Amino acid sequence: MNDNDKAPLLWHRPQQLSVNGAIMTTIGIFGAAGRMGRAIAQVAADAGLGIAGGTDRDGSGEIAPGIAITTDPLELAQRSDVLIDFSVPGALSVHLDACIAANKPILIGTTGLEAVHHALIDEASAMIPILQTGNTSLGVNLLAALVEQAAAGLGDDWDIEIVEMHHRHKVDAPSGTALLLGEAAARGRGITLADHSERGRDGITGARAQGAIGFAALRGGSVAGDHQVIFAAEGERIEIGHRAENRNIFARGAVKGAQWLIGQSVGRYDMKGVLGL
Ligand SMILES: NC(=O)c1ccc[n+]([C@@H]2O[C@H](COP(=O)([O-])OP(=O)(O)OC[C@H]3O[C@@H](n4cnc5c(N)ncnc54)[C@H](OP(=O)(O)O)[C@@H]3O)[C@@H](O)[C@H]2O)c1
Repeated sequence: MNDNDKAPLLWHRPQQLSVNGAIMTTIGIFGAAGRMGRAIAQVAADAGLGIAGGTDRDGSGEIAPGIAITTDPLELAQRSDVLIDFSVPGALSVHLDACIAANKPILIGTTGLEAVHHALIDEASAMIPILQTGNTSLGVNLLAALVEQAAAGLGDDWDIEIVEMHHRHKVDAPSGTALLLGEAAARGRGITLADHSERGRDGITGARAQGAIGFAALRGGSVAGDHQVIFAAEGERIEIGHRAENRNIFARGAVKGAQWLIGQSVGRYDMKGVLGL
């Protein structure tokens, strides 16, 4: 076997749009008219990347001057090197089908995903590269690494509570980031989050279960995303957190992740590989 035989097969060849002789990556955005879709288009344009186009529920308006928003995910996937999805969980299956048919990688930032969506992503990641993350920011992914380390070092007599606050328009709770942090804590403790999460306490709830990971969600105003992880023991507390001051941190991470994904082979990824964590 020579070195070429050992090299992973590049699963797909970027479209290699050439502008003034330079190769340009083109990004397609699902959910293009949304808050994140618009921020991503701006960041991509500022970074000198090409925007193939975007889709939205009703397909009206433009994502950038002269680039219309449509409703056809397959046609968009065929024209893009990589797709970024910040839309709604209900559209995930159609977006995955389009990327599989066009043989293109996809970064999924949409939150509120349930077990059925994760199963779809697992299935699709046998055919195309997929990066799925509840948060694309460097700071939050570093926080998750710290949370995992702290949870591994502290016993389950340290109660873990995750508190998040977001703007008044957010429709899912707990946030994808709170769940990402909860998963990190569970990994550190060697337990499964699904079996140990405590959500939405109200009324006579009984005492806190030892080893539980609790979640609380606050909503209001224009908060881009605050997260705090509290480790509470008898007589002392450790609190670590992250505050997003605007959406651009997520948009920058999404664009960086999408560019990284183009070079990857078939499989399922998160932000750790992109950020070298
Ligand atoms: N991973 C991260 O780092 C991160 C960061 C921020 C936000 N998010 C998540 O990203 C998602 C979008 O957030 P946002 O604040 O941008 O929300 P948003 O402003 O509501 O944008 C979502 C967009 O998706 C569109 N949409 C609905 N159905 C669609 C379909 N079938 N096909 C294509 N587009 C469709 C919506 O159109 P209509 O308005 O017409 O329904 C809307 O324009 C949310 O799940 C949010 O929690 C993730």
